[in-house]
Amino acid sequence: MSIPARRPAPTAPAGAFLAACRREAVPHTPVWIMRQAGRYLPEYRELRARYDFATLTREPELAAEVTLQPLRRFALDAAILFSDIMTPVEGMGVPVEFSPGPVIAEPVRTRAQVEALRPLEPEVGVPFVLESVRLVRAALPSSVALIGFCGAPFTLLCYLVTGRGSKEFAPARVLLQRDPDTAQLLLARLADAMAAYLAAQARAGAQALMLFESWAGLLSPDDYARFARPAAARVLERLRPLGVPLIYFANDAASLLEHVARLPIDVAGIDWRQSLASARATLGPRIAVQGNLDPAALFAAPAVLRQRIDRVLAEAGPPLGHIFNLGHGIWPDTDPDAVALLVDHVHERTASRTGPAR
Ligand code: CP3
Repeated sequence: MSIPARRPAPTAPAGAFLAACRREAVPHTPVWIMRQAGRYLPEYRELRARYDFATLTREPELAAEVTLQPLRRFALDAAILFSDIMTPVEGMGVPVEFSPGPVIAEPVRTRAQVEALRPLEPEVGVPFVLESVRLVRAALPSSVALIGFCGAPFTLLCYLVTGRGSKEFAPARVLLQRDPDTAQLLLARLADAMAAYLAAQARAGAQALMLFESWAGLLSPDDYARFARPAAARVLERLRPLGVPLIYFANDAASLLEHVARLPIDVAGIDWRQSLASARATLGPRIAVQGNLDPAALFAAPAVLRQRIDRVLAEAGPPLGHIFNLGHGIWPDTDPDAVALLVDHVHERTASRTGPAR
């Protein structure tokens, strides 16, 4: 399970990723990839043929192994814990199955069901996640940061109320309109649970904490401001005192970015539908940006892919406060060689701009 990665980063300083989160000088633009551990890697598919997804997340040795797989292949600047946004919900008393996305046999739709949710005690409800964090941190070199994560409350609500993935998540959005008080109570319960969950991950060794708001783009700006944003803020405000960089990724959120800019975050994840230049203009100088190559660009010819990467770097402007990533999760049929090209190209292109010559 141990690292070192086969190809070390061009310069291996203590934490280009964490420096970028804090908008400090970096030796190169750090890079990691949303969903970097997973099905596009043959070594993941091999393990997955032997164990179901839930087992991979519940057995710390296996979760740590899957977390480290992409780090062995690529000179990534950060690892993200292998788990799922729905994993901690089980610790609140809601059974979740994966097929392949999360499925909840009894969706949470009534006030009584919301009131019956157990507050999450991470050490009791999901001790295996914290053990996985400890194993991964112990195996990583100091130059590679470990990111802990959770789903943002509104995105968790989408799955809990609808019961499975969906294009529209109609039952969830109906709840917001028909019974806003119950929706707000559910968001508050989820926010408290996720604050406890992320704080426990930080105590176990996670060095940055990320909230995935994958379904932000379903909401009008007003409903985002009324429901999703305050619930995310409730999580983030609890975590601020820890002094750990906080990352918030809202997908399909170009029209919501003014609201995102007022969250207590260090880094905003940006999807590919807007340029990093326009995102920076809205977010202001206080917030670093993470993103935002279209996941489909990894299917372009190498020369075109390099141009697309250069374009993202150009739109990010000065390297301070930019973490390179895709604009959403990597697709399962991506060629791992394209990922290697991406990681190495970002490092090579940016090393000379800010750091010592190699
Ligand atoms: O490498 C990593 O990024 C860490 C692992 C990770 C997984 N899920 C593993 C996983 C992370 C960070 C997530 C987050 C997640 N899960 C999100 C937010 C990010 C996003 O993509 O918007 C969401 C919405 C989910 C819900 C979920 N879990 C879906 C929709 C699916 C189905 C298929 C898929 O991959 O999109 C899952 C299952 C899941 N979670 C798999 C993996 C590797 C596939 C399971 C398998 O091997 O069959």
